[in-house]
Amino acid sequence: MTAALRWEEHVQRAAHPLAYPAIRSARRRPVVRVPRVGVVVSDAAIARDVLLDLDHFSKVGPGAPSDLWTPVLGPSVLLNMEGAEHAALRRTLGPLFSPRAVRQLVSAGADDDGVLPDLTRRLAAGEVVDLAAVVTAQAGAVICGMVGLPPTDHAVRSAMTAARTITGMVRLHRHGLTRSQVTRAREVLERLTTPARAAYRAGDPATVPGRMRDLGLSEREAMGAVGAFVLTGTETIQSFVPRLVAIAHDTAWTARLLGPDAELRRRAVEEGLRVTVPTPAMLRSVRSATSVAGVPVAAGDRVVIATVNCCRAAGGFDPDRPVDPAVRHLWFGAGPHFCLGMPLAMAQVDAVLDALAAAATDGRVPVVGRRRAERGVLVPAYRTLELRLEEDAA
Ligand code: HEM
Repeated sequence: MTAALRWEEHVQRAAHPLAYPAIRSARRRPVVRVPRVGVVVSDAAIARDVLLDLDHFSKVGPGAPSDLWTPVLGPSVLLNMEGAEHAALRRTLGPLFSPRAVRQLVSAGADDDGVLPDLTRRLAAGEVVDLAAVVTAQAGAVICGMVGLPPTDHAVRSAMTAARTITGMVRLHRHGLTRSQVTRAREVLERLTTPARAAYRAGDPATVPGRMRDLGLSEREAMGAVGAFVLTGTETIQSFVPRLVAIAHDTAWTARLLGPDAELRRRAVEEGLRVTVPTPAMLRSVRSATSVAGVPVAAGDRVVIATVNCCRAAGGFDPDRPVDPAVRHLWFGAGPHFCLGMPLAMAQVDAVLDALAAAATDGRVPVVGRRRAERGVLVPAYRTLELRLEEDAA
């Protein structure tokens, strides 16, 4: 096993000691029914067919994301909606992810005293920097931008803790949250969205909630969307960027990832997404009886798209290998629920890589020192990933 794969396995198992091995053990069969988990799909082409078959599979219903999130976020927050209403809300929210809007959000961590210039300065000065902490602070600053708070250290820390408290309650073998978890999640979310509510009421178009009001969203829809963005868009970034940098280090790709060739960087980032799969599974509920590649399913069954199996079937990290079209971008989903935040995700990744590249001069690159995986989180991640600048030995 290569160092990159060994570390990735460690990160995945630390997050999900039982569910990850269970899902991986299903990977040799394209579709298989796993007791307590559901019908597990591990083939990219079949996964796409399920995601695009809106007549038989839904995000609303038993075992689907609606079971988890409707009690916490309310009934209309994109990831628990289908059909015309879902499409209309997506269209309305689209402008929040325009290139300009995304630049504005990401710049929250990039002004002179922001976390990213600080990352460049400290690395260039020869310090050891914990990239996991930096990316957490940057993702937290973006959340603060979304909920309409200035990104003070305290606000950033509380926003990140709130997001993790809620997502940390989710377990693959349980279809929903317990009643006390729902109560706790609602309380945490209510605290997080209090400033968002004030920003919405003030209608200031410089804030995301204010812009939502301008776009015609009701206060309830806007607060639901803010909650959905925080839950979907925080840990994925916190997870991905340090894992990408670790894999580049383990495969001697750091200089190319941080070099001037934009096309090489794009391929390395996409390949990093393919092998890390920050959202390792997607859930659907069966609407009416059908079959998935020959396996019969009944109304109410749960289908688990094991994106991690679908994407990793092609092998380890190799940005020079052509990507199978069935796999391409599957890490962001497919069909009407394709990740709405992809432009924001890519802008956040680029902002961190730019900050690392700015420090990597005179033939030196950030190399990985001590690292530790985070335990018991929904999205597998490093808890610590120490970097310092050294001569590039690759
Ligand atoms: C590397 C980072 C990210 C990855 C890998 C990722 C992955 C995904 C995937 C796989 C889905 C589809 C789930 C399904 O069909 O069941 C999704 C949906 C979504 N993502 Fe992301 N995501 C990322 C970052 C973000 C960010 C930064 C945001 C910002 C707010 C975001 C917002 C959303 C939303 C709102 C949806 C629901 C869309 C809908 O149901 O119409 N994501 N994401």
